[in-house]
Amino acid sequence: MSPAKLSLVSDNQSSNPDVEAHSIRLDDFSAYYGKNCIISDVNLKLPNKGVTCLIGPSGTGKSTILRWLNRINEDTENASFSGTIKVLGRDFISGYPDVTELRRRVGMVFQQPCVFPCSIYDNMLMGLRGRKLSEMQARDSVEQGLKSASLWDEVSHRLETRADALSLGQQQRLCLARALVLKPDVLLLDEPTASIDPVSSRAIEDLVMSLGNKISVVMVTHNIGQAKRISDHVVFICDGKVVEQGPRTHMFSSHCSAKTKTYITEEFCDC
Ligand SMILES: Nc1ncnc2c1ncn2[C@@H]1O[C@H](COP(=O)(O)OP(=O)(O)OP(=O)(O)O)[C@@H](O)[C@H]1O
Ligand SMILES: [Mg+2]
Repeated sequence: MSPAKLSLVSDNQSSNPDVEAHSIRLDDFSAYYGKNCIISDVNLKLPNKGVTCLIGPSGTGKSTILRWLNRINEDTENASFSGTIKVLGRDFISGYPDVTELRRRVGMVFQQPCVFPCSIYDNMLMGLRGRKLSEMQARDSVEQGLKSASLWDEVSHRLETRADALSLGQQQRLCLARALVLKPDVLLLDEPTASIDPVSSRAIEDLVMSLGNKISVVMVTHNIGQAKRISDHVVFICDGKVVEQGPRTHMFSSHCSAKTKTYITEEFCDC
């Protein structure tokens, strides 16, 4: 697999005045399902560039945070929140009256590849439906996106075949390619390598690191080795609270808190 090429990252950040020093900022953010408080008073400031890994035990609320950042939880029965989230300097709700704009600027890839039951080519163009692209522009976007996700070489000769006939690893890279074609400013990845083989997983890690040079990538992972390889920043979440956050060099050093150390060395949580 060829290394990821980065022709599709956003150029919004340099031209857009509403972009602050932080791509995403949570202030006293709490999230609930019914009466259950899942995330409690979280404060986070994520930088404009770089890879932030969210780590922590299962059921601790990592996906819930991503699902709010992309406003998927708005459509989830019983889900509510308090506090504020700013995305690229704007309130994530009042600042984005059209949720499509938020989702264009904040792409998301889920743990399980989520492809549409149509061709690879049509999957790639799903998010671009509102734009008036010529046939040639559409083909170019598809090619660039697939190349960015290191998938072009494997599928260029069969773009008209169904996307759900691809292997899981290929489907996951297709989901990434589909997100990248929209040139997001922020990319949310929820355990994107959890269901795929080590080779595809390393290809995605390479891509994530390259993307981190240009945009903000927020990635949930249970793979501590992966977080150590690819992150610039690490946020350790347990029981709905941020236990510790900081640069990778701190979080994986002897200076991190005892709780972080226990989690990253023994993959056990005593919070
Ligand atoms: N739609 C929902 N309705 C009710 N409870 C939910 C819903 N979605 C998630 N939860 C609960 O919220 C808690 C946090 O779930 P979440 O998926 O955010 O955890 P997570 O940290 O991503 O876990 P994992 O690492 O296993 O993916 C869990 O107890 C889960 O059962
Ligand atoms: Mg999860």
